[in-house]
Amino acid sequence: MGSSSGLLATLGVGDPSPAEWCQIFFIVSAASIFMLAAVPEHMRRALLDYGARRAKPSQPSEKSKAPEPNQGVLDVLTSYGQVPHSWFIHFYITSLSWSIFWGYQYLSKGSLMRTVAEMQHSSAVKSQTPEVDLTGTLVAWMLMSSQGARRLLECLFVTKPGSSPMWFVHWALGLSYYTALGVSVWIQGSGAILQSWEHPQLIHFTPQVIIGAAVSGWAGAQQHQCHSYLAGLKKYTLPNEGWFKYFICPHYTFECLLYLSLSVVAAPTGCILNRPVLCSLIFVLANLGATAYGTKAWYASKFGADKLVGKWIMIPFVF
Ligand SMILES: NC(=O)c1ccc[n+]([C@@H]2O[C@H](COP(=O)([O-])OP(=O)(O)OC[C@H]3O[C@@H](n4cnc5c(N)ncnc54)[C@H](OP(=O)(O)O)[C@@H]3O)[C@@H](O)[C@H]2O)c1
Repeated sequence: MGSSSGLLATLGVGDPSPAEWCQIFFIVSAASIFMLAAVPEHMRRALLDYGARRAKPSQPSEKSKAPEPNQGVLDVLTSYGQVPHSWFIHFYITSLSWSIFWGYQYLSKGSLMRTVAEMQHSSAVKSQTPEVDLTGTLVAWMLMSSQGARRLLECLFVTKPGSSPMWFVHWALGLSYYTALGVSVWIQGSGAILQSWEHPQLIHFTPQVIIGAAVSGWAGAQQHQCHSYLAGLKKYTLPNEGWFKYFICPHYTFECLLYLSLSVVAAPTGCILNRPVLCSLIFVLANLGATAYGTKAWYASKFGADKLVGKWIMIPFVF
């Protein structure tokens, strides 16, 4: 504990506030994924690939019981602890549960929210950091709840149940991510939350909140279309309609846009973006960027690289 607080002090974040703890979690997780970009391709794929992209462990033939030459130690190690890709549903159960929990804490003036909000607010006052008003905080919380609910319904009623795997580390990281995000969306509005418990506050929609919420709604609708389209495909074909004409992974593009717009909605007064939510976007960019890169390699090997010419992987004009 002493050495970790020493390290944080060296990094300029001595005694982090709850919002800073969320940022540290996202940035350390994103940095770990970025670092994997430096390891050899087969190791990176063994650690990161999940779903259809993950090569099935090869069965030794009757003639030769020797392992495949391209099967490394990491492939063997990560073949343990594989869970179904369909366990993604747990992420959205977690996300929605946290949204409901924090919503209930707000309505009942719960002691956990009060403790965390007081820690955050006193740190913001000390460092003179601007905070989010009540409207931005509540709208961000509602957008996060509706995103969790939509994804949960998609997992239940849209996505085709498959048998592809993911490593349990992805699953555990996903659960931690949605737990940290559940706090990040309201934490910088701690001052407004505490104040509204003492005196009722007026709800005031600024153009920033309205635009952010509209973009978030649009991105969610487009992502839903992508998921419905993928669910209607014969497994595994090259997706080539709608947004898939222009992107390898448009559902990831819209995921990034969702978090960007959430960061705009939950921005502190006088700011364009909310830092903890922005840090979650950095994690999403690293995580989905690595997966989308693997998807491109997988499509190229399965359907031919010429079929992918002219498509962005995930970010228009950039990636
Ligand atoms: N916030 C985050 O950090 C984060 C992280 C990961 C994902 N997500 C979001 O969660 C959503 C799902 O992500 P994902 O990584 O699971 O997406 P995915 O790997 O593309 O899979 C989505 C679904 O489509 C199926 N599928 C994929 N490619 C297909 C193809 N070529 N032909 C037929 N079916 C295909 C998959 O089947 P199988 O089940 O058989 O693979 C799965 O059911 C995305 O919108 C993503 O943005 C968010």
